[in-house]
Formats: sequence, C-alpha cells, structure tokens
Amino acid sequence: MTLTEEIAKRRTFAIISHPDAGKTTLTEKLLLYGGAIHLAGSIKSRKTQRHAVSDWMEIEKQRGISVTSSVLQFDYAGCRINILDTPGHQDFSEDTYRTLMAVDSAVMILDAAKGVEAQTKKLFKVCRERRIPIFTFINKLDRYGKIPLDLTDELENVLGIRAYPMNWPVGVDGKYLGVFDRRKNQVELFAEDTTHGQKERASETFAADDPQLVERIGQDNFDALQDDLLLLDEAGEVWDKSKVDAGELTPTFFGSAMTNFGVQNFLEEYLRLAPPPAPRLSSDGIIEPEDEKFSAFVFKIQANMNPAHRDRLAFIRICSGKFERNMNVWHAQTDKLIKLAQPQQFLAQDRQIIDEAFPGDIVGLFDPGIFGIGDTLTDTAHKFKFEDFPTFPPEKFARVQAKDTMKRKQFAKGIDQLTQEGAIQLFNQVGAGTESYVVGTVGTLQFEVLQYRLKSEYGVDVLLTMLPFEVARWLKFNDGTKVTPASLRGADRGLFVLDRDENPVLLVENEWALGWIRDNNPKLEMFATPAEL
Ligand code: G4P
Repeated sequence: MTLTEEIAKRRTFAIISHPDAGKTTLTEKLLLYGGAIHLAGSIKSRKTQRHAVSDWMEIEKQRGISVTSSVLQFDYAGCRINILDTPGHQDFSEDTYRTLMAVDSAVMILDAAKGVEAQTKKLFKVCRERRIPIFTFINKLDRYGKIPLDLTDELENVLGIRAYPMNWPVGVDGKYLGVFDRRKNQVELFAEDTTHGQKERASETFAADDPQLVERIGQDNFDALQDDLLLLDEAGEVWDKSKVDAGELTPTFFGSAMTNFGVQNFLEEYLRLAPPPAPRLSSDGIIEPEDEKFSAFVFKIQANMNPAHRDRLAFIRICSGKFERNMNVWHAQTDKLIKLAQPQQFLAQDRQIIDEAFPGDIVGLFDPGIFGIGDTLTDTAHKFKFEDFPTFPPEKFARVQAKDTMKRKQFAKGIDQLTQEGAIQLFNQVGAGTESYVVGTVGTLQFEVLQYRLKSEYGVDVLLTMLPFEVARWLKFNDGTKVTPASLRGADRGLFVLDRDENPVLLVENEWALGWIRDNNPKLEMFATPAEL
C-alpha cells in the first residue's frame, strides 16, 4: 500500500463526554463491531476489577477509574481506527486536553436524559478552538430522555454548534423501535436485544415509502416520524460538509451504546465523514501527511506504566512520512539524533512492538528522560519544529513538601520529572526556598496522583496542603518595570509566586480579587497563560 493509501484509511479521534454518559460502553461497542473483541462486557467488567487497557497505575484499580489516557487501534470497513481515550471522570487533568491535540476529530457523547453537561462543555471548547470536526452521539435512547428536538436545540443553545441530525428515532420516548437514516432515506428497525448488548444486534431496513413500514411501526409512529422529518427539512440545518470539516456543524446520531441500537450505523457514517490525518503547522510552514519525510510530536508522557519494568513512555502522534522501527530521527528540542528502538503500539487490548506506522498512528516510545510534551521528532534531512502546545490555566493549587527533609533531593527530582511530564505546573513562592513548592493542576485528582507517584516512584512521603486559590494570572507592567511583591499593590490579597521561567504569577481566590488588583494597579497587565506574556 502506498503512503497516500495508508493515510487515506486512517481515522484518529477521541471520545469526549461527561462521566457516565457512556464513553466506555461506546468504545467497547466500536471494538465489538470492529471485530477487535468478540463479546462486549470485557472492558466494562474490568472497570471494577482491573482496567484492561490502562491498568498501569494502582490508583486506577483502587478508584476504579481510568487516570491515564490509552490508545486503541483496530480495523473496520477498510479503515484503520485509532481511538485515543480521554479520562472522563470529574477531576480530569491537562492530559485530557493534550490528547485532543493529537486527534483529527472528536466524538461527543451526550446522555439523552441529561443533555449537555459541565465536562462536555470544557472538552468541547478545546475541540472547538482546534476547529476539528465534532460528531455527536446521543446515547441511552433505550430509556426515557429529553425529546430529540430539544436535544439538538441544546447543542446549539448551550454549546453554540449547529446540529445536523443524521438519523432520527422512530417510535415513542423510552420505547424507540429504530432509527430513520436521513441520507439513505430508510428506517432501520431493531430486533429485541437478547444478549444484553454483548453481541451485535439484528435489524431490518425498510425504504421510507415501503408499505410494510407502516405495518411494522403503526400509523401513529409513522405519522409522528413524517411530522418530525418535515420539521427537520424545513426548519433544521442544511447539510454542508465544509461546515462539518470546519467544526461548525455537528452530524448528530441517536442511539444506545448499551443495547447496540444505532451503533453500527453511527460507526459507518462516522468513518465515511470523518477526516483522515490533517496537515500541521510547523516552523517550516504546513507539513502535509503525505510528505515522505517522517515527523511526529510528543503529546503525552507516562512513567511507570508497567510496574514490572520501571519504564517511561512518550506517546507520539505521527504527522508525516513513514515510521520505522530503529530509525534515527532528529529531536528538535535537544538538537540530537535519537534511535527509535522498541516502539510500542496498542492493538485493541495489548501492547506490541511494531515495525512500522503511518500518519495518524500513535506510537509509544521508551523515554530515557529526554522528551517533553509538545516536542518534535523529524527526519534528519528535514528539520523543523511543530507549533507549541497551548498551556491550560491551572485551577487548583496546593503546597507540597517532603515529610522527611532528608529526602529533599529525591523530592526535587520527582517534582521536576512530573513537571516535565506535564502532570503538574510548578511555582516557587518568593523567599520560600526549596523546602516546599506550590503546585498547580487542572483537576484535583492530579494531586492524588502526584502524592502516589512521589511515594511509589521516588520513595518520598509528601505533605499536601490545598490552597484556596482558583485563578492564576501571569503579570507584566506595561512600562517594562519588574512586577515584585513590593511593586504590586495588594500582592498579599493572593499568593505571589514565580513560574519555572521566573515569570511573576499571582494566585487569587476569585475574579473579584482579580478585579481589585486590576483597579489598584493601573500599569498592570494580566494573562491566563505564560504563552500570552
Ligand atoms: P463513561 O465511560 O462515560 O463514564 O460511561 P460508561 O460507559 O461507564 O457508562 C456509564 C453507565 O451508563 C453504565 O452503567 C453503563 O452501563 C450505562 N450506559 C451506557 N450506555 C448506555 C445506554 O445506551 N443505555 C443505558 N440505559 N445505559 C447505558 P453503570 O450502572 O454505571 O454500570 P454497569 O452496571 O452497567 O456496568
């Protein structure tokens, strides 16, 4: 197969949702239909015992949640699918956001009874900023939910994205019989689910004007469907693929992941419409995936994934050319040549050593401690750097110190490595020395992970004190003078710290405090991330 053909068949995406909307269940059903697993229920049951794909951290087992993002690859209908898992629990981390930097599209799951929820909004925002296509799967149609028209309205009113329903439920709420496919102009009616969703569900299709259809679904359901379809055609969005590609129109599907209702149709339509690997911006202009010269970037670093071998993996997303085992590449950030030995890939449930991979694929590399998030790897004959990753403003802060001061060295090393991995953002309080650090994260769970990893990987027990701050602002005076605790009026209304590059940052409790600082320091400029400085 040529490079162009390999690229054309790849679909790399993440599933985003609020916890419990059905991400795990849908992922599993996609694997079921993709033939990668034979009986659904295997991933789910391990959620409570041991998570199959990301059982790397003890903490996951203890809490029954997936802390680390994992990658799954399988083939379906001539496509090679890479699903990047994003942790979906309440306390997510920057990892979740970063994973979205490595995908070409996203599938957003909503619970039909709940509609758009808090975490859906946050994740959606990141996808929106990247302008990637977003596909919506409205789940749990097997039980009572909001009415379909209200759900599509909600996408527009709450998220501000226009929705184009690709299919429409047939029947009455809580007892839907099937879905109407608007493109194919046909109805798919599902047989009774006799395996509790463990196996593919049988269905029959009828053309929209097939007289048998009325017989099967009843005149009332038929009439209600016609009314809805008329409304969609007359008052709904117009199909426009270019708007889908630009992330402005979301193709919306109704279904139930648990009962395999509408799942196959969703998968097939998604694969038809979702984009193959996209070009990326670099210091040398746009890099096309078809460029014969290899390039990739690191989007995630994970230490100690396998407790048996204390390894550290850097996950790269391939952007152009062909990846080959043992190839030599140029690492932009250190300006060094690196040999990529023992690359790992994630096929369905196992890690395997791989020999080759193509744009859109994710490869795990053993990392001797040189890689950072966002780093670029390129062919030695074409050196450049991809655009920097955006940093996401931390919202939770804690003071961390080693319980045993004799372990200060390991403590500093651990903190430094975890900062490099991007698990935490590190701040120094002016004048506080190296006894303790102020650490910022996107979600509170990261503190537990931090505490756990410092103990298990570096042998350091730490004392964590949560700080009451929720907002960080990078500071600059517009006349070029230095912002210091002494020159900033009201610095004691928050905590004055320095980031790793010694930039001044003020942590405050809320926007109100920020307003006071702003009003009382006319020369001050404030930024939510250091990149804006
Ligand atoms: P998440 O990864 O997004 O957090 O959601 P997950 O798939 O774990 O699903 C959360 C709960 O919702 C699970 O129930 C799951 O069975 C259920 N669920 C998922 N899809 C559907 C669906 O289409 N219809 C219905 N009715 N329920 C669905 P649970 O009680 O937490 O777990 P379990 O006892 O079913 O394993």
